[in-house]
Amino acid sequence: MSNAIVFGATSGIGRQLASFLVKDGYKVAITGRRQELLEEIKKEQPKAYSIYILDVQDINSTAQSFDQINQSFKTVDLIIHTAGIGFENPELDWEKEHETIKTNVLAATHIYDLAFNLFKKQGFGHLVSISSIASLRGNRHSPSYFASKAYQVNYLESLYFKAKEIKGNKVYITDVRPGYVDTRMALGDDIFWMSSLEKASKQIYNAVKRKKRTVYISRRWIMIAWVLKIVPSWLIKLVK
Ligand SMILES: NC(=O)c1ccc[n+]([C@@H]2O[C@H](COP(=O)([O-])OP(=O)(O)OC[C@H]3O[C@@H](n4cnc5c(N)ncnc54)[C@H](OP(=O)(O)O)[C@@H]3O)[C@@H](O)[C@H]2O)c1
Repeated sequence: MSNAIVFGATSGIGRQLASFLVKDGYKVAITGRRQELLEEIKKEQPKAYSIYILDVQDINSTAQSFDQINQSFKTVDLIIHTAGIGFENPELDWEKEHETIKTNVLAATHIYDLAFNLFKKQGFGHLVSISSIASLRGNRHSPSYFASKAYQVNYLESLYFKAKEIKGNKVYITDVRPGYVDTRMALGDDIFWMSSLEKASKQIYNAVKRKKRTVYISRRWIMIAWVLKIVPSWLIKLVK
């Protein structure tokens, strides 16, 4: 029996991935702030899911829940980090910038470190995090979101390098970079190339099973990524 933790499983990509894991026989600890949704999910498969109500910004209670999950599972094979937020914030409202940094940078780093240190101790494990295509460049409408995703991508790459220090080469890091996926997180009005939640989650799950290092979702976003990496800033500045 394999064990997994999904941070941010109450809705969207995390919820869908948790259900795929349960179908494949995993025991899954699911987390989020919305208790009623966690309870609703648990009712679907009471033996497979365990629920932990937590706000990832609360470092102490996240660490406590993490310890509880480990004690109950004994070993953890897979940790999926999908807990994230983002706002359109052209006015640079500080509350929104701060919330984004607290969740996507501080809390994400905390979860990455908890996962990595556990896997180091165990000698095996797989950390998956959902960053974004947004990681590749700046953006005038959502500066902190785009910057936070760049931070995640670089941190995950660092952990990938660090994993080589662990004997046996059995610690894997997967960085998932979606374009637009049809969840409440899809920012903006003029959204193009939006993937359905099901299609995107299936592609993500396949990449997880193959322990891919990085993956763009859906596949067509590989092309956009390629363009984004080479296009000069002055040209992006012209875009509305
Ligand atoms: N949808 C897209 O177009 C898109 C594109 C690129 C990347 N992504 C990334 O994909 C990830 C998942 O987002 P989604 O699209 O699936 O949207 P979503 O449905 O809003 O899911 C976000 C999840 O994060 C959890 N979360 C947020 N803040 C939290 C907090 N402080 N403490 C605990 N849990 C928290 C939410 O749970 P609670 O609210 O219950 O706490 C929810 O389960 C995010 O990191 C997002 O940046 C999404």
